[in-house]
Amino acid sequence: MHDPDAAYYPGAMTTQPDYWNQLYRDEGRPGWDMDRATPLVTELLELALPLGLRPRCEVVVPGCGYGHDAAELAAQGFAATGLDFAPLAIQGALERYGTRAAWFQADWFTTQLGPWDAIFDHTCFVAMDPDRRPAYLDACARHLRPGGLWLGAFFHDVNGRPGPPHAIPMTELRQLVEPRFEVLHLAAATASHPRRAGREFLLVGRKRD
Ligand SMILES: C[S@@+](CC[C@H](N)C(=O)[O-])C[C@H]1O[C@@H](n2cnc3c(N)ncnc32)[C@H](O)[C@@H]1O
Repeated sequence: MHDPDAAYYPGAMTTQPDYWNQLYRDEGRPGWDMDRATPLVTELLELALPLGLRPRCEVVVPGCGYGHDAAELAAQGFAATGLDFAPLAIQGALERYGTRAAWFQADWFTTQLGPWDAIFDHTCFVAMDPDRRPAYLDACARHLRPGGLWLGAFFHDVNGRPGPPHAIPMTELRQLVEPRFEVLHLAAATASHPRRAGREFLLVGRKRD
């Protein structure tokens, strides 16, 4: 059965912007795109506000796609930035949301933008090849201010097919994250989109000194 979340061309280089740009070009609205912000924005903000994330804080959404989550964060009072290395993603975000958020075409691994107070990570970590995860997390830590928060959603199950998105068990994510972030929350998501219900979990981490 076709999984609408699948973003998989066999043998293709998911490390390259062209891979993703081609999906945006071929599909217009790729399977992962929900045409609106994930309900997990609200769930993650409810976790982060008591931890010190305040309206007007600077929040970045890496791999922002068409920008729904960054625009929602802006609507909720944050200084939001959407960043994606696929030109058609940034073009789509600008067309949809204009200047509501700041949009940048840039590679998360190498960008000199930032630092930010928080990262909102929805379907970006899980889009990475698993062997790039340590470098990805290093980039997350580098792009945060001291004490900054990493808010993320992850799949523990991707219906048994190859990624992206790539699943990761909670315990493995904790091990990977703990050298760089203090794990403040790690639990199943309760507000997932119905298509992803029961397959997502959330992590909130604070950058270590
Ligand atoms: C599965 S899509 C998710 C898009 C969006 N978060 C959403 O949920 O609609 C993954 C996105 O990450 C972007 N991406 C992948 N690797 C990236 C990198 N190294 N730097 C910036 N963006 C990246 C891709 O271009 C793509 O838009």
